[in-house]
Amino acid sequence: MRRHFDTIDSTNDAARAWARDAIEPAPHGAFVCANEQTGGRGRQGRTWVSPKGKGVYLSLVWRPKIAPHHVGQLTIVTALGAARAMETLGTPPIDTKWPNDLLLNRKKIGGILCEAEIKNGAVEFIVAGVGINANFENDDFPDRPVFPASSLLCETQKEWPVQELRDACIEALQKEFKRYENGDWPTQRAEFISRCAIIGEPVTVRDSVQTYSGIATGVDENGFLVVQTVDGSRCIISGEVSFH
Ligand code: BTN
Repeated sequence: MRRHFDTIDSTNDAARAWARDAIEPAPHGAFVCANEQTGGRGRQGRTWVSPKGKGVYLSLVWRPKIAPHHVGQLTIVTALGAARAMETLGTPPIDTKWPNDLLLNRKKIGGILCEAEIKNGAVEFIVAGVGINANFENDDFPDRPVFPASSLLCETQKEWPVQELRDACIEALQKEFKRYENGDWPTQRAEFISRCAIIGEPVTVRDSVQTYSGIATGVDENGFLVVQTVDGSRCIISGEVSFH
């Protein structure tokens, strides 16, 4: 089931409201997409710029039977699906940057915002939001964020068909989430690691409490980033990673 809007504040917010609806709640596998978002949201309270017709803005509602501490795995599964979708349309290989960035030429051309609804200690549903900067031009990035932002157009000097990209994303996300349900997480984790631009690189990670520097060595079975610091190996559950 799919709901499409010309303009909406945020597809993640619309998907969550639909999933919570008392009369006709969004079923497992439902999608919300839009041509434009006026209140698009990124991680850590950032704004996600979403100009009309120039990007993919979509959110998937999924009702997985997983423990809350495994929700981070779904960010990785979503990133894998979005990367695959772009490549099916012929983009150069898309890299990831743990946990949620989609990169081309080491610049951010997309991102994932996975949000979980937890009730009585159990995951009721998750909303997996995907934003892809398809045909953004330089003027579409009002304030350059912490990490260099770009678009498929800026990196390839070519316009990309947004509708096809959106459909490819929907198909790829459905496929990746089904793989996950069928127990394919170990392979998906390995695939994510092989695309992850920071593995083997010196990184600085800022979480809500501390800053760590070290070498990113992998992503563990929970989906956490493993960083080798001078004080030993650390598992990062969430944080902002920068690399050089
Ligand atoms: C990030 O990199 O910080 C995550 C960006 C996620 C943006 C997408 S666009 C569709 C969905 N709706 C939102 O408000 N955010 C996500």
